[in-house]
Amino acid sequence: MVKVAVLGAAGGIGQPLSLLLKLNANIKELSLFDVVNVPGVGADLSHINSDATTETHLPSSKEDKTALLTALKGANLVIIPAGVPRKPGMTRDDLFNINASIIKSLAEGIAQSSPDAFVLVISNPVNSTVPIVAETLKKHGVYNPSKLFGVTTLDIVRANTFIAQLYPTDSKPTDFNVNVIGGHSGETIVPLYSVGSTGKLYEKLSEEQKKTLINRVQFGGDEVVQAKNGAGSATLSMAYAGYRLAESILKSLTSSEEVVECTFLNLVPEIKGAEEAKKLVGGLDYFSLPVKLGKNGIEEVKYEILTKISDDEKKLLEVAKEQLAKNIEKGVSFATQ
Ligand code: NAI
Repeated sequence: MVKVAVLGAAGGIGQPLSLLLKLNANIKELSLFDVVNVPGVGADLSHINSDATTETHLPSSKEDKTALLTALKGANLVIIPAGVPRKPGMTRDDLFNINASIIKSLAEGIAQSSPDAFVLVISNPVNSTVPIVAETLKKHGVYNPSKLFGVTTLDIVRANTFIAQLYPTDSKPTDFNVNVIGGHSGETIVPLYSVGSTGKLYEKLSEEQKKTLINRVQFGGDEVVQAKNGAGSATLSMAYAGYRLAESILKSLTSSEEVVECTFLNLVPEIKGAEEAKKLVGGLDYFSLPVKLGKNGIEEVKYEILTKISDDEKKLLEVAKEQLAKNIEKGVSFATQ
């Protein structure tokens, strides 16, 4: 039975994500933090007759740090969807200037109040915000790389749905669990359709269809941004995806079943398989890969998948690596300045 804190709980993602968490029987306390509107969200959720209790924390002013620290006190899992989303024509990197400072201050709160928590970063640009959280926790001497997760699950969710849509009579989206590796923005997103559950169906596609499918996974977020026409980016599908990763982490705490998810992680020697992965991705310090989850977080990086990919996927990886290096560096230098 755990305490989960959602930072940015009153937002487009925060609200439906908190709803899903409120329904999880393993969660004892749901702690909701935002800089606006959060008391209303909490009051609303608190009427649901599931067992998790709901508490809300709203700072009384810009200087008030106590609300955040109280929200985080004793949290086992912290999920961060705080920050601004994209508008049409924006890339995730365009959000950096605003979201980097928000993430840094929230990570400082985590370092002080819940240094042992699992931390799931949804706020974009994930390729840079995850290094910011890592460096901030390092500065405070409380960094545990096995417990830091960049949430890329929406890319997997989209990859499963989009291939199923191409084979409506032979498949359904729940048949698949595509490994999507690299990062979480445009060309850094690399779906590995050639391996695993989708291999045979993918092979049947023409070269043009393959290209279109991969492009749709890489830029699927734009479909939602355009359809929302200035009112934000993916929120409901993102809440589902963030919940899926949180649920998998909670499952790995309570069951002996092997749980594997893709996540954007820090490739450090303490994590089994991370050094091998790092060599295979050209020395990058962060990368999204399938990982085995356990009671202490990320137990093992399933790097072997990198040795099984097609030549076309290798080419996609080369492009991804180049962009990722810049995104990672941007996050690290912001946090260490
Ligand atoms: P939103 O604007 O609807 O909600 C963000 C919430 O964060 C607002 O309630 C706002 O008050 C709050 N907030 C701002 N500063 C804060 C602070 N210092 N502390 C706590 N809360 C704060 O935005 P939405 O649509 O919920 O998106 C949130 C973030 O998630 C964006 O950065 C977006 O780009 C990202 N995102 C990530 C995805 C992923 O796959 N990882 C997918 C979709 C969105």
